[in-house]
Amino acid sequence: MNVMVRRVNLNQVRPLRHRVLRPGRSYDTTLWDRDTDDDTAHFAAFSDSEIVAVGTVFPEAYREVEKAARLRGMATAPEYQGKGYGFCILDAIVDHAREKLKAKILWCNAREIAFGFYERYGFRLVGDPFELPLVGWHKVGVLEL
Ligand SMILES: CC(C)(COP(=O)(O)OP(=O)(O)OC[C@H]1O[C@@H](n2cnc3c(N)ncnc32)[C@H](O)[C@@H]1OP(=O)(O)O)[C@@H](O)C(=O)NCCC(=O)NCCS
Repeated sequence: MNVMVRRVNLNQVRPLRHRVLRPGRSYDTTLWDRDTDDDTAHFAAFSDSEIVAVGTVFPEAYREVEKAARLRGMATAPEYQGKGYGFCILDAIVDHAREKLKAKILWCNAREIAFGFYERYGFRLVGDPFELPLVGWHKVGVLEL
């Protein structure tokens, strides 16, 4: 699939986070720890000039693996879901984690409703499900890079 994915700034990912991941909550809930750090990278996929999917990555150890990167904020606009945009964001984030961050694994807290998406990409879902306040049930997803 030939989709343009580029690195963007924080302000460009927040509207889709709000609409897809924090609907009905205040806009402030779309600003997270690490968002403004120099080593955090935000990515967006475009359909023409419209941002239709977003994701964020930054270095964060996973258990004993120091050289690890964490994925957050994966969101595709509802009318564009199931068209491959999410995988295009993951491809860009995997490249960045491998090449720029020199990470050995990419991990995330995966929402229950998105388990299938991460598994299909190759993530292993590890450990017991846990509940995050206001966001719901998750498992840790781990991808070897
Ligand atoms: C999860 C999400 C990011 C996936 O993005 P997307 O752009 O729809 O995904 P893609 O079109 O790239 O899907 C790639 C593959 O994963 C599959 N897939 C996508 N979402 C899935 C899901 N929830 N469960 C099972 N499989 C899924 C697709 O069918 C596709 O498989 P195929 O190639 O066999 O057709 C998107 O649906 C979304 O924003 N959901 C709501 C917010 C959310 O839950 N975000 C994740 C927080 S952890």
